[in-house]
Amino acid sequence: MDAKTGHNVKSGKLVVGDKNWSFPIYEGTIGPDVIDISKLYAESGMFTYDPGFTSTGSCESKITYIDGDKGILLYRGVPIEQLAEHGDFLETCYLLLYGELPTSTQKSDFDYRVTRHTMVHEQMSRFFQGFRRDAHPMAVMTGCVGALSAFYHDSTDISDPHQRMVASIRMIAKMPTLAAMAYKYNIGQPFVYPKNELDYSTNFLRMCFAVPCEEFKANPVLARAMDRIFILHADHEQNASTSTVRLAGSTGANPFACIAAGIAALWGPAHGGANEAALKMLGEIGKPERIPEFIKRAKDKNDSFRLMGFGHRVYKNYDPRAKIMQKTCHEVLSELGHRDDPLLQVALELERVALHDEYFLEKKLYPNIDFYSGITLKAMGVPTNMFTVLFTLARTVGWIAQWKEMIEDPNQKIGRPRQLYTGEVRRDYIPISRRK
Ligand code: SDX
Repeated sequence: MDAKTGHNVKSGKLVVGDKNWSFPIYEGTIGPDVIDISKLYAESGMFTYDPGFTSTGSCESKITYIDGDKGILLYRGVPIEQLAEHGDFLETCYLLLYGELPTSTQKSDFDYRVTRHTMVHEQMSRFFQGFRRDAHPMAVMTGCVGALSAFYHDSTDISDPHQRMVASIRMIAKMPTLAAMAYKYNIGQPFVYPKNELDYSTNFLRMCFAVPCEEFKANPVLARAMDRIFILHADHEQNASTSTVRLAGSTGANPFACIAAGIAALWGPAHGGANEAALKMLGEIGKPERIPEFIKRAKDKNDSFRLMGFGHRVYKNYDPRAKIMQKTCHEVLSELGHRDDPLLQVALELERVALHDEYFLEKKLYPNIDFYSGITLKAMGVPTNMFTVLFTLARTVGWIAQWKEMIEDPNQKIGRPRQLYTGEVRRDYIPISRRK
């Protein structure tokens, strides 16, 4: 056992020519061992090289575990299927933040604290006025969340555990309010304030879909589906946006700025933007008869087209979230009478064809969470430009939990990768008069 890190340690050897170096190998509680190469450069003068970090562990974490080959996802050891079936989103937030499922007293206290932070500073509504009405809601979210540090100076001291927890609660509480404001601003309707007597997901649906002219009637089936969608998207180990939050946080930036960096990273179509892209793709395919044409394009190396909602860096089996998302999709479509939604027919046929196609089987490309979330959200009346905003809302707790874990890690230091340089060697400046 290593005294400093507490890890079970074996030893590995790297041999290059007639030289060799030993490095400690740490075992996790589950999952692959890691080789600690932090001293590689000091001892060998060489860097490792791993663009896209396909084989690189960036940190130690106790929050989320994924087994991509077996299609396993655990939040603090609890299987995602059980949380989605039996729990609610705020309970999942507590689990991710504190590491244990809450007792009923802890749950009531946590719900109370989050509920009473759901309002945003009234000046934020003026902040929105600076955006064009047709701005993409993700652009608005990136700007507004980054600006939160201009309003909440009393929770930006990252060295104070109390302020770290207050910032975490504020982020979880205010994200639905900001997301709903981004939607209302985009469609030209007045903002709707949160109501404390409503549960988290019902409150969010009301802030999105209520209008001053009539009472909002909550649909419990849709509220439950939305809550489950939030649970499924809450955290996912060291994905691109979480790694962005950790890297920003390693510089000591305030938590609001770090989450804004995560939102910007999540926006990309290869990451959190895939649900919006997947729905657009299903619409472009239009009918099952056109699926072979798109499958052919997805396999064509000269065509940049990819099947959005398929494939994953880690899952080389079914994304466990996709199975739950598919079930939720059917529940919502049945509840809303959209059982014969043509997009769902295209999605089901595309999934069937892809899962029997040699190319997809060989490359282990399975539907991921984004494949069914778009159809579900569209059926619930959420416009496509809000899909990634909902992903942002849900993933905020994961980002914050990972940020807190990094800040509280006594061994954490600023992230500063190196490179393989293949540019020009040293050459002198040439005055412009002598340049050809
Ligand atoms: C999310 O990391 C996370 O955990 C992310 C996430 C989370 O919760 O945070 O799970 C959320 O981002 C889910 C993924 C959403 N993205 C998409 O659905 C976009 C479509 N998928 C791809 O862009 C791709 O699969 C990635 C980006 C998700 C993963 O890419 P990788 O791991 O870098 O794999 P790759 O690009 O090297 O692909 C391996 C091979 C390649 O072929 P070869 O070069 O080996 O011949 O598979 C092919 C790719 O061309 N391939 C696809 C494909 N995805 C990969 N071919 C067709 N369609 C696809 N969707």
